Formats: sequence, structure tokens, C-alpha cells
Amino acid sequence: VRPPKAAPRPLAIPPLAPSSRDAAGRRVVELVAAPGTSSFLPGVATPTWGYGGLPFGGPTVRVARGDDVVLRVTNRLPETTTTHWHGARVPARADGGPHQPIAPGATWEASWRVDQPAATLWYHPHPHGRTERHVHRGLFGLFLVDDPEAQVDLPSTYGVDDVPLVLTDRSFAPDGSFDEQHRNTVGLLGDTVLVNGTVAPFLDVTTTRVRLRVLNASSARSYRVACDDEAPLTLVGTDGGLLPAPRTVTGVVLTPGERAEVVVDVTPGRRRVLRSLSHDLGAVNGVARAAGADDSFDLLELRPAARLAPAPPVPARLSRETPLAEGGRTRRFVLAHNRINGRAMDMSRIDEVVPASTTEIWEFANRHTLPHNMHVHDARMQVLEPGVAAGDRPWKDTVAVPPGTTVRALVRVGPHTDPEVPYMLHCHLLRHEDDGMMLQFLVVGAGQ
Ligand code: C2O
Ligand code: CU
Repeated sequence: VRPPKAAPRPLAIPPLAPSSRDAAGRRVVELVAAPGTSSFLPGVATPTWGYGGLPFGGPTVRVARGDDVVLRVTNRLPETTTTHWHGARVPARADGGPHQPIAPGATWEASWRVDQPAATLWYHPHPHGRTERHVHRGLFGLFLVDDPEAQVDLPSTYGVDDVPLVLTDRSFAPDGSFDEQHRNTVGLLGDTVLVNGTVAPFLDVTTTRVRLRVLNASSARSYRVACDDEAPLTLVGTDGGLLPAPRTVTGVVLTPGERAEVVVDVTPGRRRVLRSLSHDLGAVNGVARAAGADDSFDLLELRPAARLAPAPPVPARLSRETPLAEGGRTRRFVLAHNRINGRAMDMSRIDEVVPASTTEIWEFANRHTLPHNMHVHDARMQVLEPGVAAGDRPWKDTVAVPPGTTVRALVRVGPHTDPEVPYMLHCHLLRHEDDGMMLQFLVVGAGQ
């Protein structure tokens, strides 16, 4: 990766999206998607897209379990888009996939009752065939769910000791615009990493522990987030919410779409650098390089003050959600040549019909030399890993499937059912998704 030309800058923190209450007591959030201009490199203007008045990226939407929410999205872009709530358990009509287009000038409304554990989710466009382009221009934002009934004592002051880190990578064309041409087999791989849109960011830290909510919003690049000295991190959460118990790790691999929440301990006055280190994505014929896994680069410099406010230790128990129990049928998905079971996405074909609120085993077999990662809309997932007890499995919605491997996961969708409108199941390398590596499934109730 080309070293950033910019001098270190303070990490930008996406603002929280304002919300209001309507007459029915529902929490209403309005988002406008529009073009803008950003300055990532000194003196360079880059045309970008953003939400909520930001030229690039979007404000952080924050909702609580039990809220009735209304998300209203207005499209001021020159082309049709959609807005998908990645990781949210929502009715299919509110999902924001390719079947809920928002034409230029139009406003689309999604509403549902939030009923899922506290988690770091996100939102982004999902127009079939153009997702990579829309996300790459800057359309993505965090969507945080709080659970007032299941509070745990973790750092939680947004932007202070509970800090979002949205990782994206971009290359710049000579005129300052994003380079959208130089794709390899996995998609667009940039030579400059932006964290919340900031090149070479630092963060002033005022407490002995910080919680970092890391989202990989890149098209293709995978990261291994670690400290420069490989000091231990405490992993407290994954895509679907908090872990049952914290885990000590030296790094966390995130493929596109995945999230992790980590707590980092700092020492007064001692700077420490969060890096992405090269990692093994199941390298076959140099494909690890294609997904950026060979690269190492700095992500964020933590600059602790000389005196820090003490933070409580990470609790020994975090999530109290009941783990998924094995039992239902097994579905097999073979991944090869950017196809799933030999099929390409067809918006008029339903590929699977899945009963609501039934736990199944979904098996993803990568018969390809490329890495893929599979995301299931509306799903709670727990990967079956040898040696990991049922009570310790992290909650996922996007899982890496390295070349030549098979990943088996418990998957449960619902409770929302719809006999007509499907959800999506796809590779989250956005180039692959756009290329048709996506299937459609209905979630139905008994007798539908
Ligand atoms: Cu984050 Cu179907 O997508
Ligand atoms: Cu793929």
C-alpha cells in the first residue's frame, strides 16, 4: 500500500443520525442520499456520494430493541438506489434489497419493530449489479442496536471510549476521483485506507480502555486488525452482537461486510498503533494478494493522554442469548466461478423456501481458487467450529469461506414471513455479488 501523503489527522467520527418521534411514538430517522465532494488527500477534491448531508459515508443510526422505527430514505442521486439494513431482522419488504428500488427524487420508507440483541449493524445500497459502485462512491453507514434490557458494563460513550472504525480502501485517479477501473478477480482494491473517511488518522484517548466497533465496508479487501506489537485485544462482539464471553485474541480478520467489537487497553502517554497485518485467507495461486491479505499497513494511532480516567474491566459474561440448537434440515451451497449451486442471480426466480424460526444447517463449500464470503439476510448464524462449545459460538451474519474449505453454520431466519418478497443470500465481495453470486429465498410460516 502506498504510504499516505497526508499528515496524521484526527479520526473523523460519523455523527449520530437525528431521530424524532411521530404521533404514534415511532422513532423516525430520515436519510438523504446525495452526491458531494470530499477532500481525503491535501489539495485533492474527490467527487463522492453520502447520506445525511455527509459527502462520504453516512451518519450512525442508533435504535433500541423494542423501538418501532421508521427509516425514510430520499434519493437525490442521478440513478436508482436501494438502502439495505445489513444484519437487521426485518420484514422482507423493509429489507432494502434489489426489490425495493428508490428512483431519483423518490422517498422510500421502511418500518419495523426492532427485536434483536445489541449489535453493530450497517446500511448500504443493494441495487442489483451496481452495489459495488454505489458503496464505493461512499454510501455506507453504521446502524447500532442497543438493548436496554441487557446492558453490560462496556465502554459506551459514542465517539469517546466507544469508537466506530469503518474501514474502506480507495485508489485515486490523476484527476482526484476514485479509481473505479482497476478491478482484479475479487473487485476493487485500493492502495489508500480510509478510516471513517480519514487518511492516516489518530485518536486522542482519555480512558484506560476503548471499545472499537470495526466494520469492513470495503469492496474486496480483507483486514487483520491487530496492535503493532501484537499485544492482546479483547474481542467482545461480532456481526450479530456480543459474544457470550470475551475472548483474548492477537488479531481479528474481517472480510467485507463483517464487524468486530474489540476492547483495547492503553497506558497513559504511550502511543500504540492499530494495524492491519498480512494474513492467511487460504492462499491458492496468489489469490490472497488479490484480496489484499498480503498487505500490512497502519489503521489508527491511539494517543492516550498522560492521565486517563479508569475504565472498569470487561465483564466475564456478555451476551445471554440462547445459542441456536442443531436439529433442522441441511442446505448445501456450492461456490464456484462466482455462482452458487451453478446459478446466477435471477430476480424472478425463488431459489429456496425457508421455514421461519426453525434452525437449519447451511453448508457453504468453496470449490474455487478465490476467497468468498457469504452473507444471509435476516439471519442469525453461528458457525459450527470444531472445539468450540455451543455456548461460546459468536453471532454472525457474514462468514468467510476460504478456497477449498466448507463452512457449516446454524442459520435461523424469521420471525417475519412473506410468501412473495424474497431475502438475499450472497457473496459479500461486492464484485461477485454484482456479477450474480446471489440467490433469493422466501421465509414462510406454517402453511404458506
Ligand atoms: Cu451487506 Cu446483501 O448485504
Ligand atoms: Cu465471492
